[in-house]
Amino acid sequence: MKNTKDLSRRQFLKVAGAAVSALAAAGGAPLIISTPLWGASAPSNRITVGCIGTGNQGSGIMKKFLDHDTAQVVAVCDVNRASFGYRDDNQFLGREPAQKTVNEHYAAKKASGQYRGCDIYTDFREVLARKDIDAVTIVAPDHWHGIMTVMACKAGKEMYCEKPMSLTIAQGQAMVKAVRQSKRVFQTGSHERSNPQTRRACELVRNGKIGQLKKITTFVGKHNKVGPGPGWQPMPVPEGFDYEMWLGPAAQAPYHQDRCLYRFRFIYDYSGGQITNYGAHSNDMAQWAMGTDDTGPIEVELLEAKFLPKGSLFDAATETRFRCKYANGVELVCETEKSNVGARFEGTEGMVQTGYAGFFSNPESLKTAELGPNDKPLYRSDDHVGNFLDCIKSRGEPVAPVEVGHRSSSLCHLGNIAVRLGKQNKVLKWDPARERFTNDDEANAMLTRPMRGPWVL
Ligand SMILES: NC(=O)c1ccc[n+]([C@@H]2O[C@H](COP(=O)([O-])OP(=O)(O)OC[C@H]3O[C@@H](n4cnc5c(N)ncnc54)[C@H](O)[C@@H]3O)[C@@H](O)[C@H]2O)c1
Repeated sequence: MKNTKDLSRRQFLKVAGAAVSALAAAGGAPLIISTPLWGASAPSNRITVGCIGTGNQGSGIMKKFLDHDTAQVVAVCDVNRASFGYRDDNQFLGREPAQKTVNEHYAAKKASGQYRGCDIYTDFREVLARKDIDAVTIVAPDHWHGIMTVMACKAGKEMYCEKPMSLTIAQGQAMVKAVRQSKRVFQTGSHERSNPQTRRACELVRNGKIGQLKKITTFVGKHNKVGPGPGWQPMPVPEGFDYEMWLGPAAQAPYHQDRCLYRFRFIYDYSGGQITNYGAHSNDMAQWAMGTDDTGPIEVELLEAKFLPKGSLFDAATETRFRCKYANGVELVCETEKSNVGARFEGTEGMVQTGYAGFFSNPESLKTAELGPNDKPLYRSDDHVGNFLDCIKSRGEPVAPVEVGHRSSSLCHLGNIAVRLGKQNKVLKWDPARERFTNDDEANAMLTRPMRGPWVL
Protein backbone atom coordinates (compact mmCIF):
# COMPACT_ATOMS: atom_id res chain seq x y z
CA MET A 1 0.00 0.00 0.00
CA LYS A 2 1.21 3.52 -0.75
CA ASN A 3 2.16 5.76 2.09
CA THR A 4 -1.15 7.13 3.30
CA LYS A 5 0.30 10.63 3.32
CA ASP A 6 0.29 10.45 -0.47
CA LEU A 7 -3.37 9.60 -0.63
CA SER A 8 -6.42 11.78 -0.35
CA ARG A 9 -8.70 10.86 2.54
CA ARG A 10 -11.31 9.27 0.23
CA GLN A 11 -8.69 7.34 -1.73
CA PHE A 12 -7.38 6.10 1.59
CA LEU A 13 -10.83 4.83 2.59
CA LYS A 14 -11.07 2.95 -0.71
CA VAL A 15 -7.60 1.40 -0.51
CA ALA A 16 -8.07 0.32 3.11
CA GLY A 17 -11.48 -1.19 2.28
CA ALA A 18 -10.14 -3.08 -0.71
CA ALA A 19 -7.27 -4.44 1.37
CA VAL A 20 -9.67 -5.79 3.98
CA SER A 21 -11.92 -7.38 1.33
CA ALA A 22 -8.90 -9.04 -0.27
CA LEU A 23 -7.80 -10.37 3.12
CA ALA A 24 -11.25 -11.74 3.79
CA ALA A 25 -11.42 -13.39 0.38
CA ALA A 26 -7.99 -14.91 0.86
CA GLY A 27 -8.69 -16.81 4.03
CA GLY A 28 -11.61 -15.78 6.14
CA ALA A 29 -9.88 -12.93 7.95
CA PRO A 30 -12.45 -10.80 9.76
CA LEU A 31 -14.41 -8.55 7.46
CA ILE A 32 -14.39 -5.76 10.01
CA ILE A 33 -11.21 -3.72 9.93
CA SER A 34 -9.45 -3.33 13.29
CA THR A 35 -8.97 -0.09 15.14
CA PRO A 36 -5.61 1.52 14.44
CA LEU A 37 -6.57 2.75 10.99
CA TRP A 38 -9.83 4.25 12.12
CA GLY A 39 -11.41 6.10 14.95
CA ALA A 40 -10.67 8.77 17.47
CA SER A 41 -6.90 8.67 17.05
CA ALA A 42 -7.19 9.57 13.37
CA PRO A 43 -9.99 12.07 13.00
CA SER A 44 -9.19 12.86 9.37
CA ASN A 45 -9.86 9.24 8.48
CA ARG A 46 -13.37 9.26 9.81
CA ILE A 47 -16.30 8.58 7.54
CA THR A 48 -17.86 11.97 6.94
CA VAL A 49 -21.65 12.01 7.08
CA GLY A 50 -24.35 14.40 5.89
CA CYS A 51 -27.74 13.89 7.54
CA ILE A 52 -30.66 14.57 5.19
CA GLY A 53 -33.96 14.88 7.03
CA THR A 54 -33.55 15.65 10.71
CA GLY A 55 -37.08 15.14 11.99
CA ASN A 56 -38.51 12.49 14.29
CA GLN A 57 -36.38 9.58 13.09
CA GLY A 58 -33.60 11.53 11.37
CA SER A 59 -32.50 13.29 14.54
CA GLY A 60 -32.39 9.94 16.37
CA ILE A 61 -30.36 8.27 13.61
CA MET A 62 -28.02 11.27 13.53
CA LYS A 63 -27.33 10.75 17.25
CA LYS A 64 -26.47 7.12 16.58
CA PHE A 65 -23.85 8.30 14.08
CA LEU A 66 -22.53 10.73 16.70
CA ASP A 67 -22.07 7.75 19.03
CA HIS A 68 -19.57 6.23 16.59
CA ASP A 69 -16.06 7.67 16.61
CA THR A 70 -15.46 6.20 13.16
CA ALA A 71 -17.93 8.74 11.78
CA GLN A 72 -18.00 12.51 11.76
CA VAL A 73 -21.29 14.31 11.07
CA VAL A 74 -20.27 17.34 9.02
CA ALA A 75 -23.60 18.53 7.61
CA VAL A 76 -27.29 18.50 8.42
CA CYS A 77 -30.09 19.26 5.97
CA ASP A 78 -33.81 19.75 6.44
CA VAL A 79 -36.46 21.85 4.71
CA ASN A 80 -37.76 22.76 8.17
CA ARG A 81 -35.65 25.28 10.05
CA ALA A 82 -37.04 24.32 13.46
CA SER A 83 -40.42 23.64 15.01
CA PHE A 84 -42.56 21.64 17.36
CA GLY A 85 -45.31 19.59 15.71
CA TYR A 86 -43.55 16.30 15.08
CA ARG A 87 -44.80 12.96 16.44
CA ASP A 88 -44.74 14.10 20.06
CA ASP A 89 -45.63 17.60 21.20
CA ASN A 90 -42.32 18.07 22.99
CA GLN A 91 -40.11 17.23 19.99
CA PHE A 92 -38.41 20.43 18.79
CA LEU A 93 -36.72 19.38 15.56
CA GLY A 94 -35.47 20.54 12.17
CA ARG A 95 -32.09 21.56 10.77
CA GLU A 96 -31.14 24.17 13.39
CA PRO A 97 -31.73 21.94 16.44
CA ALA A 98 -29.83 19.19 14.59
CA GLN A 99 -26.86 21.45 13.92
CA LYS A 100 -26.86 22.53 17.58
CA THR A 101 -26.88 18.91 18.74
CA VAL A 102 -23.93 18.03 16.49
CA ASN A 103 -21.86 21.07 17.43
CA GLU A 104 -22.51 20.56 21.16
CA HIS A 105 -21.60 16.88 20.88
CA TYR A 106 -18.20 17.57 19.32
CA ALA A 107 -17.60 20.67 21.47
CA ALA A 108 -17.92 18.51 24.60
CA LYS A 109 -15.04 16.37 23.31
CA LYS A 110 -12.69 19.29 22.72
CA ALA A 111 -10.40 20.80 25.32
CA SER A 112 -11.55 24.23 24.18
CA GLY A 113 -15.21 23.23 24.58
CA GLN A 114 -15.81 24.98 21.26
CA TYR A 115 -16.94 23.47 17.96
CA ARG A 116 -18.84 24.99 15.06
CA GLY A 117 -17.96 22.58 12.25
CA CYS A 118 -21.38 21.23 11.29
CA ASP A 119 -22.76 22.93 8.19
CA ILE A 120 -26.45 23.44 7.61
CA TYR A 121 -28.50 23.10 4.39
CA THR A 122 -32.08 23.36 3.15
CA ASP A 123 -31.39 21.77 -0.23
CA PHE A 124 -30.03 18.19 -0.12
CA ARG A 125 -28.42 18.65 -3.56
CA GLU A 126 -25.84 20.91 -1.92
CA VAL A 127 -24.97 18.12 0.52
CA LEU A 128 -24.61 15.64 -2.34
CA ALA A 129 -22.38 18.10 -4.23
CA ARG A 130 -19.83 18.18 -1.40
CA LYS A 131 -16.88 16.05 -2.45
CA ASP A 132 -15.67 15.69 1.15
CA ILE A 133 -18.83 13.88 2.30
CA ASP A 134 -18.63 10.08 2.16
CA ALA A 135 -22.06 9.01 3.35
CA VAL A 136 -25.55 10.40 3.73
CA THR A 137 -28.55 9.45 5.79
CA ILE A 138 -31.85 9.64 3.90
CA VAL A 139 -34.53 10.13 6.53
CA ALA A 140 -36.99 12.31 4.67
CA PRO A 141 -40.56 11.09 4.03
CA ASP A 142 -40.98 8.04 1.81
CA HIS A 143 -41.82 10.01 -1.34
CA TRP A 144 -38.23 11.30 -1.35
CA HIS A 145 -36.34 8.05 -0.79
CA GLY A 146 -36.14 7.02 -4.46
CA ILE A 147 -34.95 10.35 -5.84
CA MET A 148 -32.50 11.02 -3.03
CA THR A 149 -31.03 7.51 -3.33
CA VAL A 150 -30.57 7.65 -7.08
CA MET A 151 -29.01 11.12 -6.83
CA ALA A 152 -26.79 10.06 -3.94
CA CYS A 153 -25.57 7.10 -6.00
CA LYS A 154 -24.69 9.44 -8.86
CA ALA A 155 -22.79 11.61 -6.39
CA GLY A 156 -20.87 8.55 -5.15
CA LYS A 157 -22.23 8.57 -1.58
CA GLU A 158 -22.74 5.60 0.70
CA MET A 159 -26.33 5.59 1.99
CA TYR A 160 -28.28 4.80 5.12
CA CYS A 161 -31.88 5.09 3.86
CA GLU A 162 -34.91 4.65 6.07
CA LYS A 163 -37.65 2.09 5.66
CA PRO A 164 -40.03 1.69 3.89
CA MET A 165 -37.24 1.87 1.37
CA SER A 166 -39.47 2.92 -1.52
CA LEU A 167 -42.78 4.61 -2.23
CA THR A 168 -43.58 2.21 -5.10
CA ILE A 169 -42.25 -1.06 -6.46
CA ALA A 170 -40.95 0.75 -9.57
CA GLN A 171 -38.99 3.19 -7.40
CA GLY A 172 -37.53 0.27 -5.46
CA GLN A 173 -36.35 -1.31 -8.70
CA ALA A 174 -34.67 1.95 -9.74
CA MET A 175 -32.98 2.17 -6.33
CA VAL A 176 -31.60 -1.38 -6.60
CA LYS A 177 -30.22 -0.63 -10.05
CA ALA A 178 -28.63 2.67 -9.01
CA VAL A 179 -27.01 1.22 -5.88
CA ARG A 180 -25.56 -1.77 -7.72
CA GLN A 181 -24.31 0.30 -10.65
CA SER A 182 -22.63 2.80 -8.35
CA LYS A 183 -21.14 0.04 -6.14
CA ARG A 184 -22.02 2.02 -3.03
CA VAL A 185 -22.84 0.60 0.39
CA PHE A 186 -26.56 0.90 1.14
CA GLN A 187 -28.22 0.06 4.42
CA THR A 188 -32.01 0.05 4.63
CA GLY A 189 -33.21 1.35 8.00
CA SER A 190 -34.86 -2.03 8.70
CA HIS A 191 -33.15 -2.15 12.07
CA GLU A 192 -35.04 -5.23 13.23
CA ARG A 193 -32.32 -7.08 11.29
CA SER A 194 -29.92 -5.84 13.97
CA ASN A 195 -32.21 -6.86 16.84
CA PRO A 196 -31.00 -10.11 18.50
CA GLN A 197 -34.57 -11.10 19.43
CA THR A 198 -35.73 -10.85 15.82
CA ARG A 199 -32.67 -12.67 14.57
CA ARG A 200 -33.27 -15.45 17.06
CA ALA A 201 -36.90 -15.94 15.98
CA CYS A 202 -35.90 -15.99 12.32
CA GLU A 203 -33.05 -18.44 12.98
CA LEU A 204 -35.43 -20.81 14.77
CA VAL A 205 -37.85 -20.73 11.84
CA ARG A 206 -35.15 -21.05 9.19
CA ASN A 207 -33.60 -24.02 10.96
CA GLY A 208 -36.87 -25.92 11.24
CA LYS A 209 -37.26 -25.61 15.03
CA ILE A 210 -41.04 -25.21 14.61
CA GLY A 211 -41.19 -27.97 12.02
CA GLN A 212 -42.38 -27.05 8.55
CA LEU A 213 -43.47 -23.42 8.38
CA LYS A 214 -47.17 -23.14 7.45
CA LYS A 215 -48.49 -19.72 8.37
CA ILE A 216 -47.17 -16.27 9.22
CA THR A 217 -49.19 -13.47 10.77
CA THR A 218 -47.57 -10.04 10.64
CA PHE A 219 -48.87 -7.23 12.85
CA VAL A 220 -49.12 -3.55 12.11
CA GLY A 221 -50.18 -1.07 14.80
CA LYS A 222 -53.23 1.15 14.47
CA HIS A 223 -53.00 4.75 13.29
CA ASN A 224 -51.74 6.89 16.15
CA LYS A 225 -52.93 10.24 14.68
CA VAL A 226 -56.35 11.23 13.36
CA GLY A 227 -55.98 14.32 11.13
CA PRO A 228 -58.71 16.73 10.09
CA GLY A 229 -61.98 15.44 8.65
CA PRO A 230 -63.93 16.46 5.53
CA GLY A 231 -64.06 20.22 4.95
CA TRP A 232 -60.61 20.82 6.43
CA GLN A 233 -59.12 24.20 5.63
CA PRO A 234 -55.62 24.93 4.32
CA MET A 235 -53.22 26.75 6.64
CA PRO A 236 -50.50 29.30 5.93
CA VAL A 237 -47.06 27.78 5.42
CA PRO A 238 -44.98 28.44 8.56
CA GLU A 239 -41.97 30.71 8.29
CA GLY A 240 -38.75 28.75 7.90
CA PHE A 241 -40.45 25.77 6.22
CA ASP A 242 -39.74 25.18 2.51
CA TYR A 243 -43.05 23.52 1.62
CA GLU A 244 -42.27 23.28 -2.11
CA MET A 245 -39.14 21.30 -1.33
CA TRP A 246 -41.07 19.17 1.18
CA LEU A 247 -43.62 18.27 -1.53
CA GLY A 248 -40.90 17.74 -4.16
CA PRO A 249 -42.06 15.02 -6.57
CA ALA A 250 -45.51 14.72 -4.97
CA ALA A 251 -48.57 16.45 -6.42
CA GLN A 252 -49.14 20.11 -5.57
CA ALA A 253 -51.46 20.29 -2.54
CA PRO A 254 -52.58 22.99 -0.09
CA TYR A 255 -50.54 23.18 3.11
CA HIS A 256 -51.90 21.80 6.37
CA GLN A 257 -49.70 21.08 9.37
CA ASP A 258 -51.08 17.52 9.54
CA ARG A 259 -49.92 16.84 5.99
CA CYS A 260 -46.24 17.12 6.75
CA LEU A 261 -44.17 16.42 9.82
CA TYR A 262 -44.55 12.80 10.96
CA ARG A 263 -48.20 12.64 9.83
CA PHE A 264 -47.37 12.27 6.11
CA ARG A 265 -47.33 8.49 6.66
CA PHE A 266 -51.15 8.46 6.74
CA ILE A 267 -51.47 9.97 3.25
CA TYR A 268 -50.94 7.86 0.14
CA ASP A 269 -49.24 10.64 -1.85
CA TYR A 270 -46.25 10.39 0.49
CA SER A 271 -46.44 6.97 2.11
CA GLY A 272 -48.69 3.94 2.64
CA GLY A 273 -50.26 4.11 6.10
CA GLN A 274 -49.28 1.60 8.75
CA ILE A 275 -48.93 -1.18 6.16
CA THR A 276 -45.71 0.45 4.98
CA ASN A 277 -44.81 2.22 8.22
CA TYR A 278 -44.96 -0.62 10.76
CA GLY A 279 -45.39 -3.25 8.07
CA ALA A 280 -41.93 -2.47 6.70
CA HIS A 281 -40.61 -4.02 9.94
CA SER A 282 -43.15 -6.83 10.45
CA ASN A 283 -43.11 -8.00 6.86
CA ASP A 284 -39.33 -7.71 6.80
CA MET A 285 -39.23 -10.18 9.72
CA ALA A 286 -41.36 -12.56 7.65
CA GLN A 287 -39.12 -12.22 4.61
CA TRP A 288 -36.02 -12.85 6.73
CA ALA A 289 -37.47 -15.89 8.49
CA MET A 290 -38.58 -17.42 5.18
CA GLY A 291 -35.33 -16.65 3.38
CA THR A 292 -37.23 -14.92 0.57
CA ASP A 293 -35.08 -11.79 0.35
CA ASP A 294 -34.73 -12.12 -3.41
CA THR A 295 -38.36 -12.86 -4.13
CA GLY A 296 -41.91 -12.33 -2.91
CA PRO A 297 -45.35 -13.90 -2.74
CA ILE A 298 -47.24 -15.30 -5.72
CA GLU A 299 -50.69 -14.16 -4.57
CA VAL A 300 -52.16 -11.25 -2.65
CA GLU A 301 -55.77 -10.74 -1.61
CA LEU A 302 -57.62 -8.03 0.33
CA LEU A 303 -59.51 -9.39 3.33
CA GLU A 304 -60.61 -6.19 5.07
CA ALA A 305 -59.94 -2.43 5.03
CA LYS A 306 -61.41 0.57 6.84
CA PHE A 307 -60.94 4.20 5.81
CA LEU A 308 -61.74 7.59 7.32
CA PRO A 309 -64.70 9.47 5.78
CA LYS A 310 -64.10 10.64 2.20
CA GLY A 311 -62.59 14.13 2.17
CA SER A 312 -60.49 13.54 5.31
CA LEU A 313 -56.89 14.64 4.96
CA PHE A 314 -55.62 11.17 5.90
CA ASP A 315 -56.66 8.83 3.09
CA ALA A 316 -54.63 5.72 3.98
CA ALA A 317 -56.63 2.77 5.31
CA THR A 318 -56.81 2.88 9.11
CA GLU A 319 -57.34 -0.84 9.67
CA THR A 320 -56.38 -3.55 7.23
CA ARG A 321 -56.03 -7.25 6.68
CA PHE A 322 -54.56 -8.87 3.61
CA ARG A 323 -53.38 -12.34 2.72
CA CYS A 324 -50.47 -13.55 0.62
CA LYS A 325 -49.30 -16.95 -0.52
CA TYR A 326 -45.69 -17.90 -1.30
CA ALA A 327 -44.55 -20.44 -3.88
CA ASN A 328 -43.75 -22.96 -1.10
CA GLY A 329 -47.38 -22.83 0.10
CA VAL A 330 -46.72 -20.64 3.18
CA GLU A 331 -49.60 -18.26 3.86
CA LEU A 332 -48.94 -14.79 5.25
CA VAL A 333 -51.69 -12.64 6.75
CA CYS A 334 -50.81 -9.02 7.58
CA GLU A 335 -53.26 -7.41 10.00
CA THR A 336 -53.83 -4.37 12.18
CA GLU A 337 -53.30 -5.10 15.87
CA LYS A 338 -53.21 -2.34 18.50
CA SER A 339 -49.71 -0.91 18.65
CA ASN A 340 -47.93 -4.13 17.87
CA VAL A 341 -45.19 -4.61 15.31
CA GLY A 342 -44.08 -8.17 14.87
CA ALA A 343 -44.61 -11.55 13.32
CA ARG A 344 -45.95 -14.91 14.45
CA PHE A 345 -44.67 -18.05 12.75
CA GLU A 346 -46.68 -21.27 12.96
CA GLY A 347 -45.21 -24.59 11.92
CA THR A 348 -46.11 -28.26 12.06
CA GLU A 349 -44.30 -28.61 15.42
CA GLY A 350 -44.54 -25.28 17.14
CA MET A 351 -44.86 -21.52 17.11
CA VAL A 352 -42.58 -18.52 17.52
CA GLN A 353 -43.66 -14.90 17.81
CA THR A 354 -41.38 -11.86 17.97
CA GLY A 355 -41.93 -8.11 17.94
CA TYR A 356 -42.59 -5.11 20.15
CA ALA A 357 -44.85 -7.20 22.40
CA GLY A 358 -41.95 -9.57 23.20
CA PHE A 359 -40.90 -13.11 22.35
CA PHE A 360 -43.32 -16.03 22.71
CA SER A 361 -42.94 -19.63 21.69
CA ASN A 362 -44.56 -23.01 21.80
CA PRO A 363 -42.94 -25.06 23.18
CA GLU A 364 -41.68 -22.47 25.64
CA SER A 365 -38.26 -24.16 25.65
CA LEU A 366 -37.61 -22.62 22.21
CA LYS A 367 -37.02 -19.36 24.02
CA THR A 368 -33.64 -20.58 25.22
CA ALA A 369 -32.91 -23.34 22.70
CA GLU A 370 -29.41 -23.19 21.19
CA LEU A 371 -28.74 -23.69 17.51
CA GLY A 372 -27.07 -27.03 16.81
CA PRO A 373 -23.73 -27.53 15.01
CA ASN A 374 -25.51 -28.24 11.73
CA ASP A 375 -27.85 -25.28 12.00
CA LYS A 376 -27.19 -22.16 9.99
CA PRO A 377 -26.97 -18.88 11.92
CA LEU A 378 -28.14 -15.71 10.20
CA TYR A 379 -26.05 -12.62 9.47
CA ARG A 380 -25.16 -11.17 12.85
CA SER A 381 -25.38 -7.45 13.46
CA ASP A 382 -26.26 -5.94 16.82
CA ASP A 383 -25.85 -2.31 15.77
CA HIS A 384 -27.51 -1.20 12.55
CA VAL A 385 -25.59 2.06 12.10
CA GLY A 386 -22.35 0.42 13.25
CA ASN A 387 -22.85 -2.35 10.71
CA PHE A 388 -23.29 0.27 7.95
CA LEU A 389 -20.09 2.06 8.97
CA ASP A 390 -18.18 -1.22 9.21
CA CYS A 391 -19.30 -2.14 5.70
CA ILE A 392 -18.20 1.20 4.29
CA LYS A 393 -14.72 0.33 5.53
CA SER A 394 -14.75 -3.35 4.58
CA ARG A 395 -16.76 -2.91 1.35
CA GLY A 396 -18.82 -5.82 2.69
CA GLU A 397 -22.57 -6.25 2.38
CA PRO A 398 -24.61 -4.77 5.25
CA VAL A 399 -27.34 -6.72 7.03
CA ALA A 400 -30.17 -4.93 5.16
CA PRO A 401 -28.87 -4.20 1.65
CA VAL A 402 -30.92 -2.58 -1.07
CA GLU A 403 -32.47 -5.83 -2.38
CA VAL A 404 -33.69 -6.71 1.12
CA GLY A 405 -35.22 -3.25 1.51
CA HIS A 406 -36.81 -3.51 -1.92
CA ARG A 407 -38.44 -6.92 -1.42
CA SER A 408 -39.68 -6.15 2.11
CA SER A 409 -41.15 -2.83 0.93
CA SER A 410 -42.61 -4.60 -2.12
CA LEU A 411 -44.54 -6.97 0.13
CA CYS A 412 -46.10 -3.94 1.86
CA HIS A 413 -46.83 -2.25 -1.47
CA LEU A 414 -48.52 -5.40 -2.80
CA GLY A 415 -50.78 -5.39 0.25
CA ASN A 416 -51.56 -1.72 -0.24
CA ILE A 417 -52.37 -2.25 -3.92
CA ALA A 418 -54.90 -4.92 -2.93
CA VAL A 419 -56.29 -2.65 -0.19
CA ARG A 420 -56.61 0.35 -2.49
CA LEU A 421 -58.08 -1.57 -5.41
CA GLY A 422 -60.74 -2.80 -2.99
CA LYS A 423 -61.56 -5.93 -5.02
CA GLN A 424 -62.74 -8.24 -2.26
CA ASN A 425 -62.63 -11.94 -3.20
CA LYS A 426 -60.21 -11.25 -6.06
CA VAL A 427 -56.89 -13.05 -5.75
CA LEU A 428 -54.22 -10.95 -7.45
CA LYS A 429 -51.60 -13.20 -9.03
CA TRP A 430 -48.03 -11.85 -8.68
CA ASP A 431 -44.99 -12.98 -10.62
CA PRO A 432 -42.10 -12.20 -8.24
CA ALA A 433 -39.45 -12.76 -10.92
CA ARG A 434 -40.94 -10.30 -13.43
CA GLU A 435 -42.41 -8.16 -10.65
CA ARG A 436 -45.74 -7.88 -12.45
CA PHE A 437 -49.31 -8.95 -11.76
CA THR A 438 -50.43 -11.56 -14.26
CA ASN A 439 -54.20 -11.10 -13.96
CA ASP A 440 -54.94 -7.42 -13.27
CA ASP A 441 -53.92 -4.41 -15.37
CA GLU A 442 -55.28 -1.93 -12.82
CA ALA A 443 -52.97 -3.44 -10.22
CA ASN A 444 -50.01 -3.21 -12.61
CA ALA A 445 -50.78 0.47 -13.15
CA MET A 446 -50.25 0.96 -9.40
CA LEU A 447 -46.68 -0.31 -9.45
CA THR A 448 -45.54 3.20 -10.28
CA ARG A 449 -46.75 6.76 -9.65
CA PRO A 450 -46.27 9.97 -11.58
CA MET A 451 -43.70 12.46 -10.31
CA ARG A 452 -44.10 16.21 -10.40
CA GLY A 453 -41.34 17.90 -12.37
CA PRO A 454 -38.56 18.78 -12.31
CA TRP A 455 -38.09 15.62 -10.25
CA VAL A 456 -37.48 12.41 -12.20
CA LEU A 457 -35.87 9.12 -11.33
N1 LIG B 1 -36.67 2.63 11.23
C1 LIG B 1 -37.69 3.07 11.95
O1 LIG B 1 -38.12 2.44 12.90
C2 LIG B 1 -38.33 4.39 11.61
C3 LIG B 1 -39.01 5.11 12.60
C4 LIG B 1 -39.61 6.31 12.24
C5 LIG B 1 -39.53 6.78 10.94
N2 LIG B 1 -38.88 6.05 10.00
C6 LIG B 1 -38.82 6.51 8.61
O2 LIG B 1 -38.09 7.72 8.54
C7 LIG B 1 -38.63 8.55 7.52
C8 LIG B 1 -38.98 9.90 8.14
O3 LIG B 1 -40.00 9.71 9.11
P1 LIG B 1 -40.14 10.66 10.37
O4 LIG B 1 -41.06 10.05 11.32
O5 LIG B 1 -38.78 11.03 10.83
O6 LIG B 1 -40.82 11.94 9.68
P2 LIG B 1 -40.62 13.47 10.08
O7 LIG B 1 -41.64 14.25 9.33
O8 LIG B 1 -40.59 13.59 11.55
O9 LIG B 1 -39.17 13.80 9.54
C9 LIG B 1 -38.88 13.95 8.17
C10 LIG B 1 -38.02 15.19 8.03
O10 LIG B 1 -37.63 15.29 6.68
C11 LIG B 1 -37.71 16.64 6.30
N3 LIG B 1 -37.79 16.75 4.86
C12 LIG B 1 -38.85 16.61 4.03
N4 LIG B 1 -38.50 16.79 2.76
C13 LIG B 1 -37.16 17.06 2.77
C14 LIG B 1 -36.21 17.35 1.76
N5 LIG B 1 -36.56 17.44 0.47
N6 LIG B 1 -34.93 17.59 2.12
C15 LIG B 1 -34.56 17.54 3.44
N7 LIG B 1 -35.43 17.29 4.44
C16 LIG B 1 -36.71 17.03 4.11
C17 LIG B 1 -38.94 17.16 7.04
O11 LIG B 1 -38.95 18.56 7.15
C18 LIG B 1 -38.81 16.45 8.38
O12 LIG B 1 -38.09 17.23 9.32
C19 LIG B 1 -39.86 7.81 6.96
O13 LIG B 1 -39.51 7.16 5.79
C20 LIG B 1 -40.20 6.83 8.05
O14 LIG B 1 -40.84 5.68 7.61
C21 LIG B 1 -38.26 4.88 10.32
